[in-house]
Amino acid sequence: MRLLTVSLARKRPIRESHGRARTPWLFSSLGAFRGAPFSNDMETSVEKNLTFDLKRVLGVSPLRGLWRMIGEYHVHYLIANLSLGLAALFKMATFLLLRYFVDNVLGRPQANFLLPWVALGFIGLAALEGGLTYTSGRLAAYTAEDSTRKLRNYLFDHIQRLTFAYHSKARVGELIERVTSDVDAVRRFFAEQAVGVGRILFLFAINFAALLYIHARLALLSVAVLPFVLLASLYFFKKVTKVYEEYQAQEAVLSTVLQENLSGVRVVKAFARQDYEKAKFEKENWGKFLKGRTFILMHSAFWPTTDILCGLQMLVGYYIGARMAIAGEITVGDYLAYTGLVVWLIWPLRNLGRLIVQTSTGVVSFKRVLDIVRQEREPLDEGDYQPQGNVRGAIAFRKVCFEYDGDEDHVLQDITFECQPGQVVALLGPTGSGKTTLVNLLPRFYDYTGGIITLDGVELKRYPRRYLRSQIGIVEQEPFLFSRTIRENIVYGVERSVTQEEIEAAARAAAIHETILTFPQGYDTIVGERGITLSGGQKQRVAIARTLIKNPRILILDDSTSSVDTETEAEIRAALEVLMRGRTTFIIAHRIQSVMNADLILVLEKGRIVQRGTHAELLEQPGIYRQIYDLQMRIESELEEEIKQAELSATRAVEPEARPLPLLKT
Ligand SMILES: Nc1ncnc2c1ncn2[C@@H]1O[C@H](COP(=O)(O)OP(=O)(O)OP(=O)(O)O)[C@@H](O)[C@H]1O
Ligand SMILES: [Mg+2]
Repeated sequence: MRLLTVSLARKRPIRESHGRARTPWLFSSLGAFRGAPFSNDMETSVEKNLTFDLKRVLGVSPLRGLWRMIGEYHVHYLIANLSLGLAALFKMATFLLLRYFVDNVLGRPQANFLLPWVALGFIGLAALEGGLTYTSGRLAAYTAEDSTRKLRNYLFDHIQRLTFAYHSKARVGELIERVTSDVDAVRRFFAEQAVGVGRILFLFAINFAALLYIHARLALLSVAVLPFVLLASLYFFKKVTKVYEEYQAQEAVLSTVLQENLSGVRVVKAFARQDYEKAKFEKENWGKFLKGRTFILMHSAFWPTTDILCGLQMLVGYYIGARMAIAGEITVGDYLAYTGLVVWLIWPLRNLGRLIVQTSTGVVSFKRVLDIVRQEREPLDEGDYQPQGNVRGAIAFRKVCFEYDGDEDHVLQDITFECQPGQVVALLGPTGSGKTTLVNLLPRFYDYTGGIITLDGVELKRYPRRYLRSQIGIVEQEPFLFSRTIRENIVYGVERSVTQEEIEAAARAAAIHETILTFPQGYDTIVGERGITLSGGQKQRVAIARTLIKNPRILILDDSTSSVDTETEAEIRAALEVLMRGRTTFIIAHRIQSVMNADLILVLEKGRIVQRGTHAELLEQPGIYRQIYDLQMRIESELEEEIKQAELSATRAVEPEARPLPLLKT
């Protein structure tokens, strides 16, 4: 029986010196390095954004937060608005020049002489106004684009630094939505709405002053509609804010459905659930349509309301102005200037409303972005113990308990064991018994809630997470490969330059080198989305190579052979044997073969250690371990028996043709 042929007694010797810093085995096994080193350190020319900290915008009103966000562009923004103010001033001057032309030039003997100068004046004013508007547009666009570029960079970095607890609950589609669509609404706020409000206020103030100068009573009459427009705007602002919030939330739901469908496309296909998924998407898409329709309807209700109000205002103004001109209260020039100026008084009024309403989208989106900013990052460098060099790898758990955030039940209870540097600890137990949870405590993905864990005699919580993670290598239960080349995936965990020889040595040790060479592009083959072009076993072996190159002192292997066939499993186990040499290793497995050589086997059930010892010791006790062993043995022997039978019947089947061969020889 194959199972029995595996050495039961081979126990790894425990040597204190094992964990000490020494030449990485990969290096020592290689001769001189050839070829250009491959650096995984992505040095780009993109400006670093380390000073951009959005935490400072929390806790103030959204508008003030938006203003704080563009901290370094305040001058840009002020100049943009100043330019708009000047542009408004020149626009107003155009109408005053018109007034001067009609009242003081037309009909005078020197009109012919002055005409070209007046024309030049109009052209000059238009050019100045245009130039200033352009300057302001440019500055606003720059501010908007650059500050949202930084916002996006900040969010990207922030999200990847959030805790494991956050990521295990967050919905990817929702996060994508906030980093793209919501950030874009913030960009529009700066590019269009914020400067727009500045422009409107300047136009209104300057033209109103000019009208007051021409005729105070007429000027006051021309803004009679202002309170109504403002009231209507505020009413719609409140309504639109609510609808837009719902619209964005629905869009996020749609993104999540899409993202999950794409990520789980193999499951969808395997269960032929396309129609179900289609219906689900259509339902959410319909929801978005309804919200979008309400949003647009609100806009289309708002426009005619303010248009009618403003149109009436203009008509009344024109009429009263005309009556005044006929009565001789104002000059024809005054009237002409008034008709021009009043357009630039009413237009801002009308647009102020629109901008107030549109601003709601920027504010809502900004709040949604801040929901992410508010989340606490995982403090990577927190910890008062600063170790020098590598850890040795002596680990001790004492009465360790753990429960996930908000869960009442303990996922781990009273876990006590210890291991010396270089030893192998195996974890065995039914699904959901807490094996992955237990090993996740070591790199401090989660912090234990009771008891104490020590590493080399120092409490684990005193080590900075960054240091721990540099010392621990993990081959995960479901390894993830990036859609980059195989080479990039292998060197992913190291920041130093790595030579091609080193990469190949790691791949060889992980029994994947030969397979990689069969790919048309070899190590430059791009791994498909979610590693679809590689089989499960191949993915796992690339992940093992990735961990090999990292050369960690502590190794965690979570079920590394579960998704592969027996032959590949043997290959992987051989690769793991190499990987485990000299490192403190935690191995989680469901098959006895993977754990029987461990120095300590822990059997977990419902978060507690129910059995402990070596393979030989555990076989002597009654309990789960012996049950699993007996069961697996029985299956193995039955399988071998079946194979034998099959081989026998196959030989019989070919016997008639096989027989003549020896005769031919003789
Ligand atoms: N992020 C999480 N938040 C809340 N509960 C969790 C989380 N991850 C796991 N659990 C729960 O903790 C318990 C232990 O899970 P764990 O993943 O450690 O089991 P396991 O022994 O590794 O199982 P398997 O053999 O299937 O991998 C389970 O009941 C699970 O539902
Ligand atoms: Mg697990």
